[in-house]
Parts: sequence; structure tokens; C-alpha cells
Amino acid sequence: MPARIRPALLLMALLATAVATATRAQEAPPVQAAPNQAGPEQTVEVTAERFAFQPSEITIPVGTTLKVVLKSDDTTHGFRIKGEGVNVQIPKRGRGTITATFTPAKAGKYTFECSRICGAGHGFMRGTIVAVEPSGEAK
Ligand code: CUA
Repeated sequence: MPARIRPALLLMALLATAVATATRAQEAPPVQAAPNQAGPEQTVEVTAERFAFQPSEITIPVGTTLKVVLKSDDTTHGFRIKGEGVNVQIPKRGRGTITATFTPAKAGKYTFECSRICGAGHGFMRGTIVAVEPSGEAK
């Protein structure tokens, strides 16, 4: 008899764990789409600070709508994607965020840069959006 009870107890323990895990999953906040995951829309948080963007490289699949949620850790900065008509002003630290939206139509590298004079290193504030084919190859 004990030999039969033990597997039953083990099963009950497993079920209890599964129920607890499922409950936790329901309570968890919505999970943000991970970078590099194919999908119609991706959100990436970028922090601007004299004199860099963090992260400074963002990789997404072609055709994905990229939402860059920008905030500053110091003064007012800008975020411009060269040649793509995207240019927003990032409010200074503590004044919230601004979201820039960009959907790359072709694979390739798109340069973004700070578009507001913010100090001696203003010209160094730049980064790259890499749009890759679903296969993962950047042209
Ligand atoms: Cu930051 Cu110019």
C-alpha cells in the first residue's frame, strides 16, 4: 500500500505546483515583446544621457513597427532617424517619456542621432536601428 500512496502524493504535489504557477502567471504584468521576436509591433525603451543612447543598437525584423519609448537621464535631448522623417524632443529627466514610431520597409541600417544641442558631446549621440529579413540577415 505505501508503494501506491507515494506516487499519488507526488502527483498531488505536482498538481499543486502547476496550479500555483498558473496563478502567478495570471497576476504577472503583461510581458513586453522581446527584441528580435517577429511580430507586427515591438516596443523598446531607450534612455538618453550626455552623450549616448542606451541601448544604441536596436534590431527588429523588416516591416515591424518599432515604438521607441524615450526618456532622458539629464537634460532635454532629441531623437531623429536620419532621412526617415522621425524627429522628437525627449523631455528632461523626470518629465516623462516621448514615443517615436518607425516601421522599416527595407532591410538595412538606419542611423538615429540626437537632434537637440545638448553639450560638447552632442555630435556623439547616435545609434543604429538594424532591420533584418525574417531569416535574420541584414543586407
Ligand atoms: Cu543629446 Cu544632443
